[in-house]
Amino acid sequence: MTTEKSSNQMWGGRFASGPSAIMEEINASIGYDRKLYAQDIAGSLAHAAMLAKTGIISADDHKQISDGLNTILAEIENGKFTFSRKLEDIHMNVEARLADLIGAPAGRLHTARSRNDQVALDFRLWVKNELEKTAVSLKVLIEAFLIRAEEHAATVMPGFTHLQTAQPVTFGHHCMAYVEMFGRDLSRVRDAIERMNESPLGAAALAGTGFPIDRHMTAEALGFREPTRNSIDSVSDRDYALEFLSIASICATHLSRLAEEIVIWSTSQFNFICLSDAFSTGSSIMPQKKNPDAAELVRAKTGRITGSLVGLLMVMKGLPLAYSKDMQEDKEAVFDAAESIELALAAMSGMVSDLTVIEASMKKAAGSGYSTATDLADWLVRALGMPFREAHHVTGRAVALAESKKTDLSSLTLEDMQSIHPQITDAIFGFLTVDKSVESRQSFGGTAPQEVRSQIKYWKNRLIKA
Ligand code: ARG
Repeated sequence: MTTEKSSNQMWGGRFASGPSAIMEEINASIGYDRKLYAQDIAGSLAHAAMLAKTGIISADDHKQISDGLNTILAEIENGKFTFSRKLEDIHMNVEARLADLIGAPAGRLHTARSRNDQVALDFRLWVKNELEKTAVSLKVLIEAFLIRAEEHAATVMPGFTHLQTAQPVTFGHHCMAYVEMFGRDLSRVRDAIERMNESPLGAAALAGTGFPIDRHMTAEALGFREPTRNSIDSVSDRDYALEFLSIASICATHLSRLAEEIVIWSTSQFNFICLSDAFSTGSSIMPQKKNPDAAELVRAKTGRITGSLVGLLMVMKGLPLAYSKDMQEDKEAVFDAAESIELALAAMSGMVSDLTVIEASMKKAAGSGYSTATDLADWLVRALGMPFREAHHVTGRAVALAESKKTDLSSLTLEDMQSIHPQITDAIFGFLTVDKSVESRQSFGGTAPQEVRSQIKYWKNRLIKA
């Protein structure tokens, strides 16, 4: 096995030789944690300013350090920075380059700090920023649904339980169900940001530091509400990453249910919706096909995102306090999930905005499967004072009769109805159409168009503040 002659320039003091090639490979995280460069440099700038303010380093050293860091930021952003695997991670790559640029003062930047609080800070800042992006994407999707819900507040479709036709609902009402789901995701995002809004910088390796640092100053400069309270927890905690992944997993689960409905609804058997050309694909062999690939891929991303959550939970499980190198394995899962959830949300917003609703097939399907049977039972309760259980039985007989006549409930004659129960009058026929059924469900949160419109109004208001 090959062994490098030179030991690590950052921590190699007690090492006679450098790491084997395999050691270097398993140890390095620069291949992916370079994504944290902006957070790493922001953290160092805040730390250096605090070290100067508290008199731990001189104003001159501070000036050189911050100029150097800004040069490095520009180098990275312009693709002029050479990342080195020998330097392990983003923290040491930046610091080594700072030493190249400014010499000795660079060595003062790491006073009262460790890579343990540094990585905890960088990653927390990254996750927090990512959650802000998720919030924006969720709002875009919710807004897309609100527009479709408004257009279709009175468009009747079958509501399902067990994927069997249950009762007529409106397409707007169904859209608003998703608004509730993604609205909960949005509130989870807000809660999580609030909880992670504490700066771990200054926890140092795990025990805090003997230098007179000002953690409130760095917390404020980096946009945190306050510093974390326990230095051991500060470097051990990855809850913010787990919370991000849990939120992303729940949100992806919601997206997968919607994706599945889109797949089903766009089949020729259902024919409820038509996806736009922009969000579907053709088949290389069957010219007639239009496939809902985007919806299928959104459905699949759920597995990948939830896999990341389970993966990181397993990495963290059983780790003793405080920092262990296992925790370096936290990043790829989060980066991958972040990319996936962003893409899935964007694709879904596009599909929802562009899809065409085929109102006639929805309405036709809404009336099939005796979907207004409950309306008949409810009428028996209201008009004849029948107990609901008995009304349920009577209606069951009406359904059986309609079935034997191969017709639907509203096409039974009054005679047919009276053979089921003599007190039924022709008033019943005013209640058996799908429109009447939907219109009657005015209970709070129900499917009546006016109720749906008031749900839309509620969410429009709430979204302004969300
Ligand atoms: N690359 C490391 C990580 O991502 C940084 C922290 C290393 N700390 C240490 N004590 N070796 O976790």
